[in-house]
Amino acid sequence: MLARAQRPVSFSGAGLSAESGVSTFRDAQTGMWAKYDPVALASPQGFAADPAMVLEWYAHRRRGIAQAEPNAGHNALAGMDWTHITQNVDDLLHRAGAKRVLQLHGSIKIDRCHHECGFEQDVELANPPPMGSCPACSAPLRPGVVWFGEQLPIDIWSEAEAACRECDVLVVVGTSAVVYPAAGLITIARESGAKVIIINTQPSDASALADIELFGTSGTVLPKLLAAKRSD
Ligand code: OAD
Repeated sequence: MLARAQRPVSFSGAGLSAESGVSTFRDAQTGMWAKYDPVALASPQGFAADPAMVLEWYAHRRRGIAQAEPNAGHNALAGMDWTHITQNVDDLLHRAGAKRVLQLHGSIKIDRCHHECGFEQDVELANPPPMGSCPACSAPLRPGVVWFGEQLPIDIWSEAEAACRECDVLVVVGTSAVVYPAAGLITIARESGAKVIIINTQPSDASALADIELFGTSGTVLPKLLAAKRSD
């Protein structure tokens, strides 16, 4: 299926980065949402209520990502000159050398103005900055990630949607496919005639949309699956 694909696209979630030691959200026990309240930590309301706690949680995640290395799954995807759509806010696909990465939920590598005046700045993940104000408009600065209830970056979304309408194979990696509108991209690809290959360690909400479902870790399955494509 992949060897014949003319326009493959990948769509990934937190499972792609799990083998790099970056926590997923919904894995039982180990997932972040099993330990933390997502609304308290990843929403505008949570930030308004306790900005220091939210920024300390992101500093903790940033330091963790700084220690992480791309795993074999990131490297296998990065070796494919495809559009890589991801829900992940880490920079591991970029560090693996992927050229076209569409981060639907933003990037933890930047801070941006909370009032969306346009200001944003790179952050050193290993040494995350303390709370600060936007130098352009004095609003608070916050991580450049999409919080619950916030809009996705519309230009990134449009590019991702177009890629899913045009692709002929969508490789879905390491996502529970429960968060919308991101998860809706799988249906968009399928309805546009694409074949859907799912890689996950367990069934997900995307299972019903799979033409092929490969159970295993992405760090193990992706290199094998994509070796076929690389042999083109
Ligand atoms: P989840 O934590 O919801 O799902 C992770 C998926 O990866 C699950 O289906 C696991 O079975 C699977 N998985 C775990 N380890 C794996 C491995 N080594 N190889 C392959 N699969 C593995 O994470 P997401 O689906 O990415 O939202 O969550 C989507 C969004 O919900 C995130 O982007 C975040 C979160 O709230 C925002 O940041 C807005």
